[in-house]
Amino acid sequence: MSESTAPAPLPAARKAGCPFDPPEDLARLRRDHPISPMAYPDGHIGWLVTSHALVRAVLADPRFSHRADLTHSPLSGARTGAPRPAPPGIFTSMDPPEHTRYRRLLTGQFTVRRMRRLTGRIHEITAEHLDAMERQGPPVDLMEAFALPIPSLVICELLGVPTTERAGFQSDMSKLMSLEVSTDEKIAAFGTLQAFMLDLVLAKRAEPADDLLSGLVTGTDLTDEELTNIGGVLMGAGFETTANMLSLGAYALLGHPEQLAALRADTGLTDKAVEELLRYLSIIPGTVRAALEDVELGGQLVRAGQSVMVSIPAANRDPEHFADPDTLDLHRPTAGHVAFGHGIHQCLGQQLARVEMQVGIPALFARFPTLRLAVPPDEVPLRTDMMIYGVHRLPVTWDKG
Ligand code: HEM
Repeated sequence: MSESTAPAPLPAARKAGCPFDPPEDLARLRRDHPISPMAYPDGHIGWLVTSHALVRAVLADPRFSHRADLTHSPLSGARTGAPRPAPPGIFTSMDPPEHTRYRRLLTGQFTVRRMRRLTGRIHEITAEHLDAMERQGPPVDLMEAFALPIPSLVICELLGVPTTERAGFQSDMSKLMSLEVSTDEKIAAFGTLQAFMLDLVLAKRAEPADDLLSGLVTGTDLTDEELTNIGGVLMGAGFETTANMLSLGAYALLGHPEQLAALRADTGLTDKAVEELLRYLSIIPGTVRAALEDVELGGQLVRAGQSVMVSIPAANRDPEHFADPDTLDLHRPTAGHVAFGHGIHQCLGQQLARVEMQVGIPALFARFPTLRLAVPPDEVPLRTDMMIYGVHRLPVTWDKG
C-alpha cells in the first residue's frame, strides 16, 4: 500500500482566466495520488479517484454501490442529512437487480422510431430559436435564448409535457440543482415538481399519447409513484446538463477561433467535435460510489462502507489516456472519455444529448457567422457555485446582415 495524503475536501478552485479547465489541484492529485483520502462535507472520510484507469475501474466494479443509503454526498449543499434509501423509481441511486429492472423498461422506450421523430423536432426547435434570436437582434444571452430552452423543450417533447407548462418547471429544476438555495426552498421546489409530474402521469393514464411517459404507463406495471419519480429523474438529468454543454461549448469554440474555423469548414467534423467538447469541458464534477466490501484500489485499501468520488474532469484530462489533454483539438480521438459516465449507470440520455449538440452547435454558428462575446471574457459569469459546471449567462452579439 502506498503512503497517502491527509484527507482534504474535493478541489474546487479554478485558475483565474481559464474557464474551461478543471480545478488545478485535480491534476496534481492525479499525478501524485490518483486515489487519495477525501473529507466529505458531512464529515465522512472517503476517497477521491482522479486517474482515467481508476475512475473506469470503480464505475465498472460491482463491489462499488450507487445506493443512496450507502453513499455520502461529495458536494456541499447537494444533499443534506444522513444517507437514506432511494424512493421507488429513483433508479439512478439503486444497484442491480432493482436498477436493471427500471433501466430495461426505460431503454425499451428510447426506440429508433421515437429517436428519429425527436431528431426531427430538435431540428425544428433549434431553427425556431435561432429565428427568434435573429428577430430579437443582438446582444442576447445565449443561455436564455438558445441553450436552456432547447433541451428543456426536447425533454418535454420526450415525456409529453405540454410546452406551455415548462417555464415554472425550469425555474424549479434550477433551484434543485443550485448549491446555494436553502434546503427549505429545495423541498418546496421538489414538492411542486412532484405534484406536476403526478398530474402528468394521471393525465397520461386517462389519455395516453405517443410519448415516453405514455409508453411506460401503458406498457409496464409501474405505479404512479414510480412513474412520477422516473419523470422527475429524466427532467432533472436531461436539461441542465445539455443546456450547459450547449452554452459552454459555444463559449469554448468562441475562445478557440482556429477550432471553430475547422468546424465551420467541415461539417463532417461535427460528431467528433461534440465528443471532444464533452471530454474537454466535462461539466459534471463526478459521481460517487460506496464500497460494499474492503477493496484494494490503486494501492490503497478502501474499507467497506467508505464512499469513493470519481472525478470526471480529472479522468478526461488524464495524459496517460489522452495526448496533450489540456488542448481542445476537435480532430483528436476521444474514445473512452467518461463525460457520460461508465458502466451500468452510464448516461441513459446520451444519444439524445449528442443529437441536440450535433444539431444545435453547427446551426448556431452557421446562422450567425460573426457571433462573438458581447462582454470581455472575464465578465462571463461562471457556474462555479453549481453542481453542473457552465455559465450562468453568455452575452453574445453579431453583425446584422
Ligand atoms: C450533455 C449532456 C449530459 C451529460 C454530460 C450527462 C452525463 C451523465 C453522467 C456522467 C451520468 C452518470 C452518472 C453516474 O454514474 O452517477 C449520467 C446518467 C444519467 N443521465 Fe445523463 N447526461 C447528459 C444528458 C442527459 C439527458 C438528455 C438525459 C435524459 C433524457 C439524461 C439522463 C440520464 C439518466 C437517467 C442517468 C442515470 C442512468 C442510470 O443511473 O442508470 N442525461 N448522465
